[in-house]
Amino acid sequence: MTDDAHTAARGVGVVVVAAGSGSRLGAGLPKAFVPLAGRPLLGWALDTVAQLPGLGSVVVVAPASLADPAAAAWSGVTLPPGTRVVAGGAERTDSVAAGLAALDPGCDVVLVHDAARCLAPLAVFERVVAAVRAGHAGVVPGVPVVDTVKGVDARGVVTGTPARDGLRAVQTPQGFRRDVLAAAHAGGAAAPDDAALVEALGHEVLVVDGDLRAFKVTTVDDLAHAVRFVADG
Ligand code: CTP
Ligand code: MG
Repeated sequence: MTDDAHTAARGVGVVVVAAGSGSRLGAGLPKAFVPLAGRPLLGWALDTVAQLPGLGSVVVVAPASLADPAAAAWSGVTLPPGTRVVAGGAERTDSVAAGLAALDPGCDVVLVHDAARCLAPLAVFERVVAAVRAGHAGVVPGVPVVDTVKGVDARGVVTGTPARDGLRAVQTPQGFRRDVLAAAHAGGAAAPDDAALVEALGHEVLVVDGDLRAFKVTTVDDLAHAVRFVADG
């Protein structure tokens, strides 16, 4: 077997986290199942995942109440062949850990993707995978920060103003060597994102170019923004 064939055989595992409640969107159902142009956000995300070259295994992490893909809320979601669906946990970190535990053991690279970033383009997935394959233990897509960011203390008093050119707003999919991500989650600590857990282990995390379309649907305005993107093609 050539090195390339070996790499392809091991494959990329993708954990799509979709178990959040979507409290800030307030749509009355879990955010990943809220329709965008008639199909759940999760369906849009999975359509892109399905196109990923070298795709090995997909795990969707759903709310416990919706962990059966036969449920009506899944209508319009096409699962890539072999996809497993598992129930998530109280925090995003718990949901990622549940997804990782269900991933095919043959996958040596793992992407963790928010269903809420339903329009993240395939090119972002490919950039992240390429950088992990090139030897980086952790890779995140990022975009420049447009606002000036202030550090503040508990009273709201500014403690500092970091230089904007040294900041990135990071997105998903975030990609990792599987052994590194498993070790990062083994401690059971919660973190804002998976990269933070990997950083805490002392691994270097690389930022590659993200994409404005990989924004996260969080509020009603974000959903309207997504509708515009879809309408514009
Ligand atoms: N997520 C998850 N399990 C959780 C919390 C979040 O799988 N316990 C997922 C969400 O489904 C989403 C992604 O993580 O795809 C990013 O989380 P966020 O945007 O915060 O989504 P929600 O937690 O659903 O939204 P909110 O915080 O407004 O309730
Ligand atoms: Mg949340």
